[in-house]
Amino acid sequence: MDTLASYDDLPYDSVPITDTHPDGLRAIARLFGVAGKPAHACRVLELGCAGGGNLIPMAFYLPGSEFVGIDLARHHIEEASGLIDELQLGNVRVLHRSVTDDLSDLGEFDYIIAHGLFSWVPRPVQDRVLALCARQLSANGIAYISYNTLPGWRARAGLRDMLLAFCDKTARASVRLSQAHALFDLLAPALRLQPTPEAQGLLAEIDYLRKAPASYLYHEYLEETNEPLWFAEFMARAQAAGLDYLADAVLSTMLPATLGEETARELSGLADRLRVEQLMDYARLRKFRRTLLVRRGVAVNSAPDLAAFTGLAFHADLASDEELDFASDTPQAFRLSTGGECRIAHPLAKAAAMSLAMRYPDSAGWYQLLAAASAVVAEHGDERFIGEVAQFQTEWFSLAAYQSVRLSAEARGFAVEVPDRPQAHALARAQARRGKVVASVRHAAVELDEFGARLVQQMDGRRDLDGLTDWLLQALQAAGRPVPERAALLAACHQLLWTLARAGLLA
Ligand SMILES: C[S@@+](CC[C@H](N)C(=O)[O-])C[C@H]1O[C@@H](n2cnc3c(N)ncnc32)[C@H](O)[C@@H]1O
Repeated sequence: MDTLASYDDLPYDSVPITDTHPDGLRAIARLFGVAGKPAHACRVLELGCAGGGNLIPMAFYLPGSEFVGIDLARHHIEEASGLIDELQLGNVRVLHRSVTDDLSDLGEFDYIIAHGLFSWVPRPVQDRVLALCARQLSANGIAYISYNTLPGWRARAGLRDMLLAFCDKTARASVRLSQAHALFDLLAPALRLQPTPEAQGLLAEIDYLRKAPASYLYHEYLEETNEPLWFAEFMARAQAAGLDYLADAVLSTMLPATLGEETARELSGLADRLRVEQLMDYARLRKFRRTLLVRRGVAVNSAPDLAAFTGLAFHADLASDEELDFASDTPQAFRLSTGGECRIAHPLAKAAAMSLAMRYPDSAGWYQLLAAASAVVAEHGDERFIGEVAQFQTEWFSLAAYQSVRLSAEARGFAVEVPDRPQAHALARAQARRGKVVASVRHAAVELDEFGARLVQQMDGRRDLDGLTDWLLQALQAAGRPVPERAALLAACHQLLWTLARAGLLA
């Protein structure tokens, strides 16, 4: 079997991609009338699984499901196999195979994931991805395919062309990366002096790429293939292969109202949802899509069903620095753990967000949440708001569409606590040994600093908070780093333990 030299030379940083989790995909499918398989009892195939950073955590947290990953880069498969062996997981395997191989021996799958693959492989390989999904999705199976789109990528293509022309095609990936940075150093000072929108746009892109992971820069801008395409073109090819459109993994992008009233009014007369999606891409200058597909013939609602919405569950990792006012619908700010913030106005929605934040990572069903929120508003706010369930639902749907609140197909509890002698679970310790990103039980990437990662490895159930603080103190001293007061260090350890507990990383 051949391998992919550029990925062997510069392996991709493989991390959990929250939007690919079967639980969230099933919740979206349900909104559009499709009954997908439960995340805890399904079969998942990941195409281009790289080092398994997305696939293996799902397998770890969902022991009743079966996971298969394939990747053409030998190094990636070796990396993934090493982690699977260390964790002794029997429900996941990774194979050094290509999507162009006959994979029919692997059987049917309820979820097929291809993230960061489609635009970066030649067209015949793309067609095999679509054919494979059409052939090997189970009856109500869902495929997730992400790809770069036009018109958004048109603006970036200029920089990519310059980089491809400037960097030596025959050199190793690491050398070409240094050459790319040399070109940035040459361009940036000159661009800074030019006030035109084009120059400032290019400068912003260069600034972003200078801080981005090297593997992102390389595989987006220096890889031989990166073919952005129009959504309409993607769907025409998907339909020709025997697939149909289900939805976008990011629901907000499907809502014309997010483009403002005037544009939404223009789009409101159009019945063809694919055409509406394409026109919204024009208006948004969209550069990336995460499209969900089903097999042709599966009945799909053309719009999300708000009745189905109340059958879902929700989880949210957010916090507010303000004192929440449950007696008025003045918008208040909530910080999201993923960065950024959202504003929440209706008292029931504020109370529901607070309730979810307090129980994170647990999720709650709609009616459970409504009851909890109503109780808070009755006790601490204005009772007149309790009857405004429709307003709450509209705002809650919008929060879920923007992913400030995450959708789940079913409510789940994880019994989070910080024991006296904390023990990070096997996956957390194994991932902390390999780098600084560990996967949470909600399939989010938890980033640790160097000492955080080392501390997680010390959490083996033998040390209490004092013992962990002492270890950290000595480790900082040994590394010649500044050592804060012991009380500050103890508070930092305590904080880290709660972060890990909320991420479901303690055994
Ligand atoms: C940009 S990386 C994305 C990795 C991962 N899915 C993610 O998003 O983090 C693309 C991956 O696809 C793999 N790949 C490329 N062509 C392939 C093929 N024909 N068959 C299987 N894997 C392939 C590469 O080796 C690489 O691991």
